[in-house]
Amino acid sequence: MNKSLRKAVIAGNWKMNKTPAETTELINSIKPLVAGADCEVVVCVPYIDLFAAMEAVKGSDIKVGAENCHWAASGAFTGEVSAQMLKACGVEYVITGHSERRTYFGDTDKTVRDRTRAALDNGLKVILCVGEYLEQREQNITMEVVSSQVKIALAGVTEEELGNVIIAYEPVWAIGTGRTATADQAEEVCKAIRELIAGLYSKEAADAFVVQYGGSMNASNADELLDKEDVDGGLIGGASLKAPDFAAIVKAASK
Ligand code: PGA
Repeated sequence: MNKSLRKAVIAGNWKMNKTPAETTELINSIKPLVAGADCEVVVCVPYIDLFAAMEAVKGSDIKVGAENCHWAASGAFTGEVSAQMLKACGVEYVITGHSERRTYFGDTDKTVRDRTRAALDNGLKVILCVGEYLEQREQNITMEVVSSQVKIALAGVTEEELGNVIIAYEPVWAIGTGRTATADQAEEVCKAIRELIAGLYSKEAADAFVVQYGGSMNASNADELLDKEDVDGGLIGGASLKAPDFAAIVKAASK
């Protein structure tokens, strides 16, 4: 496996934060700090901030993503937004399967698969989140949990389509808690995910496949995590809301 075959992807997940005006302000502060970065930089923002974000990133290489999408193209789904609608707005990325959606909004492995399917069918790039709860780690079933999440979400996804998928390994106990996985813990699971991809698809697909770590990644621990062979970037929550912190992580990924 060769890390140099992959370009790191650092994606901010803003969650339910920032108004459109604040979006413009934050992206304007991030822009000069990440200019010339040697990694892909993405900001995933609330639906109402997408237009402000797409306007603000103009003239930079920063890409814009949404935080979720519905699986149907349109219909009676009050409050939802489809992948087709996101694509029509010019959005490039979408997160699927974030643990907060699984935990608080009833997302299941099946709905995550359906959202992922809709995103790929509409030409969006997907950041598919997987990860175990603390009890599952303590029961030593982390890999069982993560592999079944991956296998179900990717069922029916072709090797060609896989080029538009990134997996973010996010141990649920590390999200927003300040309790980061150690670099070795992150590497262990990211590596296992890559091996799973090699088994499901091919070694070439696995070598090219981006696996991010997410969960309290910040300016001070990014270097150590991103140094690991199979950690190809990060999905960043809290630290993505502060331009200098986010930029420091982008810098760590550009080395
Ligand atoms: P965190 O969130 O960086 O605040 O832990 C990561 C995520 O939820 O994607």
